[in-house]
Formats: sequence, C-alpha cells, structure tokens
Amino acid sequence: MHKVGFIFDLDGVIVDTAKYHYLAWKKLAEELNFDFTKEHNELFKGVSRKRCLDILLNLADATATEEQFDTWMVEKNRDYLAYIEKMDASEILPDVPKVLDFLKTNNIPIALGSASKNAQPILEKVNLLSYFDTIIDGNSVSKAKPDPEVFLIAAEKLDVAPKNCIVFEDAVAGIEAANAGNMTSIGIGDAKILQEADYNFNDFTEIDLDFLRKLAKV
Ligand code: G6P
Ligand code: MG
Repeated sequence: MHKVGFIFDLDGVIVDTAKYHYLAWKKLAEELNFDFTKEHNELFKGVSRKRCLDILLNLADATATEEQFDTWMVEKNRDYLAYIEKMDASEILPDVPKVLDFLKTNNIPIALGSASKNAQPILEKVNLLSYFDTIIDGNSVSKAKPDPEVFLIAAEKLDVAPKNCIVFEDAVAGIEAANAGNMTSIGIGDAKILQEADYNFNDFTEIDLDFLRKLAKV
C-alpha cells in the first residue's frame, strides 16, 4: 500500500469548464424561456448532469416527459462538447502542472475524482491524461457527491487508505464527500463557501512545495 494518494476534482480545479457548462445550460434555458444566470450556474457545480437538468426544470417551472428529458440531456451535452472540442493546454488553471509534476517526481499516486462523464476527453484535450493513475468519473459511480463513493473508489484503485488521501475540490458537495470519506479536504476557491474544508486556497498559485511535502510525507 502507498503512504498517501492525491485525488483531484476536474471542473473548477484542473480546468475552468464551468463557463462552458454555463453557456450550454443557458442555451437550453432560453428554449424554456428562463433567464439562466451565473448565480444559477453556481448551484450546478459538482452536480451530475441529470440532477442539473432537474434543478433547471424546477427553476423554470417546467416539466418534461422522460423522452423530452433525455433529448434535453443529449442536446445540452452536444453543445457542451462543442466547446470542449476547442480546448487545449492553455486552459489548465494556474500552477496545476506544478503540483502534478511535484507528485509525479515523488512517485505519489494521482487519481481523478469527478462527477463528469466527459472527464477523459477533457484531460486528453489539455494533455494531462498521462499524469493520472486512475480516473473515476460520472461513468464509474452510482452515488453522486456529497456521497463519498467517487473518492472511496479512487482510494481503492490507488491502493491508499482513505485517511491518507488528499482531495482537491471547488464544490461544497465535493468537500462534504471528501470529509465523509475521512480524507483530507482542500478547498480551491472561496474559503467562505468552502468553509468545511481542512485547508483553503484561492488557487494553486497559493500552494507551495513545502506544504505539499508535508501533506505527501516526503
Ligand atoms: C462536474 C461539474 C458539474 C457538471 C458535472 C457533470 O461536477 O462541476 O457542473 O454538471 O461535472 O458533467 P458532465 O460533463 O457529465 O455533464
Ligand atoms: Mg468541481
């Protein structure tokens, strides 16, 4: 068993895809005559695609047959993927490679733990796929964050005890999931929103190598 393992959320931690989710949901919301704002989009962070559509229908006071629901899910994802198609390494958030390089150099196992079903193509697009020893995403889990399932599976695949896993997350549900899994949680973003995290940083530029050495026990 490895001493420690690091688990990264994708959207909002490694890349800023929230803006593309926003544009794709906004387009669908227009069809529902609903003014979807950036504030609404906050509610969608870390939340599965299906649950997001449930929330949107609720906000728009709309209902859908099962068939219509599925059509809208496909439509939203098609529009989202059109944005993803154009992504490249320039969209990696600042200093993420610094942290990943440090972990790789020290042979520390790295997992992705994301609710997205598009995680693999996104990592390919930004050229980071090779850093990850395992990818646990929306295709691998049955229970969404704040359930710890996604991170517990990641820990198992990395062969690291959950209490020795360190999770980077930008969503409240993700911090709750890490805490529920008995892992060390690191909030990336607004500390007031992510106040349940064990540590808080606005972004990876605030994380120095000494802090990582301490966490990684190297
Ligand atoms: C991440 C994002 C959410 C998104 C979810 C599913 O958790 O933060 O906003 O809804 O992934 O993404 P997907 O790519 O499967 O639609
Ligand atoms: Mg996220």
